[in-house]
Amino acid sequence: MNLLNQIKEKVATAFTACGFDASNTLVRLSDRPDMSDYQANGALPLAKALKQNPRQIAEKIAEKLRADSFFESVSVDGPGFINMRISNSVLGEQAFDVLSNPECGYERPDMPKTVVLDYGGPNVAKALHVGHLRPAVIGEAVKRICRFVGDKVIADVHLGDWGKPMGLLITELQDKRPDLPYFDDTFAGDYPTEAPFSSKDLETMYPIASAHAKEDEEYAARARENTRLLQNGHRGYRALWQHFIDLSVADIKSLYGELGVSFDLWRGESHVHDRLQQMIVRLRQDGVLIPDQGAEIIPLGKAKSGNDLPPLIMVKSDGAVMYGATDLATIEERVDEFHPDAILYVVDARQGLHFEQVFTASSKIGLTGQMSLEHLGFGTINGTDNKPYKTRDGGIPTLRYLIDTAVAAARRKMEAGEMGRDLNEEEKAAISKIVGVSALKFADLMNERMKNYVFDEDKLTSTEGKTGPYILYAIVRMKSVLEKLGVSAELTPNDVITITTPAERQLLLRLYALPDSVQTAYDNRAPHVIADYLFKLAQDFNLFYHDCPIKGADEVTQKSRLALTKYTLHLAMACADMLGLQIPDKM
Ligand code: ARG
Repeated sequence: MNLLNQIKEKVATAFTACGFDASNTLVRLSDRPDMSDYQANGALPLAKALKQNPRQIAEKIAEKLRADSFFESVSVDGPGFINMRISNSVLGEQAFDVLSNPECGYERPDMPKTVVLDYGGPNVAKALHVGHLRPAVIGEAVKRICRFVGDKVIADVHLGDWGKPMGLLITELQDKRPDLPYFDDTFAGDYPTEAPFSSKDLETMYPIASAHAKEDEEYAARARENTRLLQNGHRGYRALWQHFIDLSVADIKSLYGELGVSFDLWRGESHVHDRLQQMIVRLRQDGVLIPDQGAEIIPLGKAKSGNDLPPLIMVKSDGAVMYGATDLATIEERVDEFHPDAILYVVDARQGLHFEQVFTASSKIGLTGQMSLEHLGFGTINGTDNKPYKTRDGGIPTLRYLIDTAVAAARRKMEAGEMGRDLNEEEKAAISKIVGVSALKFADLMNERMKNYVFDEDKLTSTEGKTGPYILYAIVRMKSVLEKLGVSAELTPNDVITITTPAERQLLLRLYALPDSVQTAYDNRAPHVIADYLFKLAQDFNLFYHDCPIKGADEVTQKSRLALTKYTLHLAMACADMLGLQIPDKM
């Protein structure tokens, strides 16, 4: 049992022994580490209910706890807080039992949940840009945190691969390359397996087509018609579209790969096309779908929040299905296929209304049941001027640009001697990539999701302060401490800790506190809680490293300090893994 749960049990027993109701002991990590390791605040509500003095109640309970050698000291402070310090020998002896497992002391719930996680959301044939960093990086971390807790997670990229942009590209190609077989209605053979264009071609073509449609109604009408033909199964267009998908997905996979972001499902909006058609027919019959000025809508009334919601437009007047409609059909598909307990969407906070509509519609048509639907929004990435981040030339940065900028900044730090002093040329090239990407990800993940943050390439690659490189450095140091003394990182029951200094105690207590951070991060879908924990762990380790020499120490102390280093490495790696941070071997 982890430390917090052991203490909860002990405090509950003390409550009961004093004749008190133990259902609300309010045991938690202390927010005053100078006074205690853990605290129990349950005497306060109890006193209120019993109309007694809280300090007296707390004193009674404390008296019972003091009899247990588990505690070094138990005091009653303020209006009736019970402050507990754990004895050093307990902390030292429990390390292997509590911390060495892959869950690092976290106790998984008996009933794991099934979760569908929808993140990334890139659009086919468009270059990934600054707006795609956060959904990918946060989504990946949420996935890993959920899996750490024991959930079964199905990660779906939910490509934007249907609808108007596809029709625009087809139209543009039709004009530029009318000779292609996809446009020959008499063509009955097999279409080429290789696309007669590149993904770069598509990325340049799309903005041209989109601008063209805005000023040329005839062109726009053809694009709409081509979208309709594609959706209705036009053979040539489907083959063309498959090229769009194949090229884009290969590009997206490779870029996400650089970021360490991966998915179980590579489905897109198109995937539910047939299901959506059936859904529309059914909703019409049920009278849920209402004609409205040529379109068809689902009126929504009030949201859970009490706000009046605009109706969800399912089908536009020209017959095209809308973004909300595909999301609704996708919920149905996910329910049928995976029976999830929750579907989570990591999507820009500005799509909040869209999800409120979709979720309300989903429950209105009876899809939701006990399942929870959660929109995990996030804020924007700003430049140092606090306006949306731009490239040096004032353009919208691509994701490629962001990665390259972070990697180049890491490389500059190496040239300046801030890191990588002992690396050769080849290592510098490889390691600046790892450090740059981890720096980029950490700078994103350390912020509360909903807040905007400032992208500052020099700050985020600094080795000082709350940054990726600071953390990477600490972890590399843990590894090298062990390596230099020829000690394997593998934990064994012989890894016992004897606390001799405050720095050791502080670090060890931090290790025992991980489950609490995991739970908070999980409950709030908040990777920044793990980022914060990992930063503090790195700080505590560095303090320990400076205060507690290993080499000169006596044998017992040396063994203990190496063991503490091993446990720290074990937990730091688990946290890095939850955040999706790659750790270099040296730096
Ligand atoms: N492709 C969409 C966009 O670019 C994001 C998709 C988010 N996921 C969803 N299920 N709607 O805005």
